[in-house]
Amino acid sequence: MPDTQTPKTPKTPAAPAAAADPLMLIGGAWVPSRDGRTFAVENPARRSPIASVPRAAAADVDLAVQAAARAFPSWKRVAPRERGRALLRIAEAIEADAEALARTLAEETGNALRTQARPEIRTAADIFRYFGGLGGELKGETIPLTAAMLDYSLREPLGVVGAIIPWNAPVVLAAVKIAPALLAGNTMVMKTAEDAPLSVLRLARICAQVFPDGVLNVLTGYGVECGAALAQHPGIAKLSFTGSTAVGKSILHAAADRIVPVSLELGGKSPNIVFPDVDEEWVVTGAVAAARISRQSQSCTCGSRLFIHESIYESFLEKLVVKLEAMRIGDPLDEETDMGSLISRRQFDRVCAYIAEGTGNRDARLLTGGLPPTDGLLAQGYFTRPTLFAGMSNDWRLAREEIFGPVICAIPWSSEEEVVRLANDSHYGLAAYVWTRDIGRALRTAHAIDAGFVQINQGAGQFPGQSYGGVKESGIGREFSLEGMLESFTSRKNICINVDTPAG
Ligand code: NAI
Ligand code: MG
Repeated sequence: MPDTQTPKTPKTPAAPAAAADPLMLIGGAWVPSRDGRTFAVENPARRSPIASVPRAAAADVDLAVQAAARAFPSWKRVAPRERGRALLRIAEAIEADAEALARTLAEETGNALRTQARPEIRTAADIFRYFGGLGGELKGETIPLTAAMLDYSLREPLGVVGAIIPWNAPVVLAAVKIAPALLAGNTMVMKTAEDAPLSVLRLARICAQVFPDGVLNVLTGYGVECGAALAQHPGIAKLSFTGSTAVGKSILHAAADRIVPVSLELGGKSPNIVFPDVDEEWVVTGAVAAARISRQSQSCTCGSRLFIHESIYESFLEKLVVKLEAMRIGDPLDEETDMGSLISRRQFDRVCAYIAEGTGNRDARLLTGGLPPTDGLLAQGYFTRPTLFAGMSNDWRLAREEIFGPVICAIPWSSEEEVVRLANDSHYGLAAYVWTRDIGRALRTAHAIDAGFVQINQGAGQFPGQSYGGVKESGIGREFSLEGMLESFTSRKNICINVDTPAG
């Protein structure tokens, strides 16, 4: 196989420590932006800058796309299971570097080390390992037509994938694009989120030791300068975006001009439905997990609309208040901390505006939380308290819009038909949670809800192998699974052979 390139053997088991001011990865080299501009990355728990990174714009996007395009023909020809071996090596290297990766992640995002950052790094390694074993599954079919024809299909990579990721779980969201896209034989230009580029650059250092030059390129830059240039670049064969619904729509518009396939993983306002037959104490713990409180609810699958049956409404809320008030908020790097800070001033102001709207609403009852303290330790960062409003209507803005902060809206209901109608009365359709001991009711409800990802009696995250994604304005396409990889990152080529050719 003279034309194929085998993945590099890692030089060392773990990545070297990143420099204080990291650079971008283009064509295997660590580079500044073309015009030399940079921007600062802030530790949101301290409100202090921790590094500056290159501020990439259209010229840098162009170089990165060219590098990825040059790397594509030979990467495509590496045997799929050989590409899988590269991912397995990366999984090992992530584990070897896990603690440093987790600390970088906690510092730049404000997510607590123990409850969020370490588990996120473990999940990222798990994603590389899962896809690393799937090279042999990039197979086609034979199609029975007539005795005179052999018809079969091949799964082919698309080319250069443009990937844009947000800041809320940056390492996992990077992994869930890099691993399947590259296993399938594509190359990639990834734009990191401006608020959390450092942990993904550290992951990129690990990847760069294993992938041939140009197979993965990672840029740091702003959405309008760098992200939009990537979405519009003529060299991109596929766009994969995770972030807000508003930006998702602009990506889809950019793709329409060039007929480029798109995967979108957007927001949610997910229902969390509690039936009256549950063990309330146990479900309260599950509801806190589903509301992603230990990630300050900065999660697209946050179960933020809490529908509690009217017969247990008050008793359930009393228990929930106790649970929420027991959360330890503080320094993300402190092992005792359950919940860290929001990501940025902008998100802090946005979340506070929603909380102020709730406290200003005479019909809404604030049960715990409210606006953050203005002095003391917590005022030194973008910390917010878990906030619970009762007496909410599903029609209010607080119950309709994605807040991306620790605000739970509790809504009472009386019949199964009513709660399903309320749950589905949303322009989103990402996740849903159903709590009951009655299996018939659980399944009826799960099947009736407009959502891509429903959990019964648990509030967990996604596992590799589950096809994850949304309906309605929550997105298009699926991630995390074999099927998601095949649908998102390959195209089928059909080949038909006439076997009834003249003899001789
Ligand atoms: P965003 O959608 O602006 O950012 C996500 C990514 O898109 C970032 O890398 C950003 O640089 C990039 N981007 C921004 N504008 C772009 C453009 N015009 N073209 C191409 N790329 C662009 O999200 P943001 O502003 O950080 O958060 C705002 C809200 O979005 C949050 O409050 C939350 O409701 C939602 N969100 C949802 C996420 C999810 O996982 N579903 C993740 C992040 C945000
Ligand atoms: Mg942003």
